Amino acid sequence: MEVIISHDAESASKKAARYIADVIKRKPNCVLGLATGSTPLALYKELIRMHKEENLDFSQVVTFNLDEYLGLPNNDPRSYHYFMHENLFSHINVKPENIHIPDGMTTDVLAFCEEYENKIKQAGGIDLQILGIGNDGHIGFNEPTSSFASRTRIKTLTHDTIESNARFFDNDENKVPRHVITMGIGTVMDSANVLLLAFGKSKANAISQTVEGPLSAFIPASVLQMHKHAKILIDEQAASLLKLKDYYRWVYDRKPEWNKWL
Ligand code: F6R
Repeated sequence: MEVIISHDAESASKKAARYIADVIKRKPNCVLGLATGSTPLALYKELIRMHKEENLDFSQVVTFNLDEYLGLPNNDPRSYHYFMHENLFSHINVKPENIHIPDGMTTDVLAFCEEYENKIKQAGGIDLQILGIGNDGHIGFNEPTSSFASRTRIKTLTHDTIESNARFFDNDENKVPRHVITMGIGTVMDSANVLLLAFGKSKANAISQTVEGPLSAFIPASVLQMHKHAKILIDEQAASLLKLKDYYRWVYDRKPEWNKWL
């Protein structure tokens, strides 16, 4: 696990975008795992800028999103389909047939989830998975106590997540769907590389437990301690509770040039 502390969310998002651009340049048909939420917004803006101003080419890129609310049609502004089209896909040249997002309106959840896993496998697996993190340590919608071996499936949201996401549903918790489809923790762990982003004070506790706490299904992101190529890219505030933050900075500042990815 590599911890990279950036001054603020903006500089971290630019670093993340450069990293992704580098992955795409090295492997134009790479498979990206994508997240929604507030955290990756600045990253997606920067990728759009790179596409428009620097010809970053997404024409062969394949994408798989982590999750979607059950019961929301694709054209609902609160669905993750809508979010992704609004904030990334409609501004870049990714091919519609290369975009995969769980279907919140599926009538056969079990078959859909199995098929989603198969499609990831058929695409050759995820080269780079982008993650945010919930205040309770969730990744995707894998809430606390999700199995580390879990695959794409239906999950019930915790009250904490419903409360936190009510901001996208007129601040009305009753409007937040209770169920979602999410890639499992095992699905995320199969990705060749993982980049988790976290910004702001509200994420500090989840980050300290993820990086320096015990491996525990109670903090789903702590599983990343077992991933071979996981990078945790955070701002000063999200890093504020880390005991070894000076060490992480020291390590990063002394990385050999050839090994410096951003
Ligand atoms: C969204 C997702 C979630 C979010 C997490 C943080 O696709 O997978 O795990 O990354 O809830 O959300 P924000 O970024 O809004 O704080």
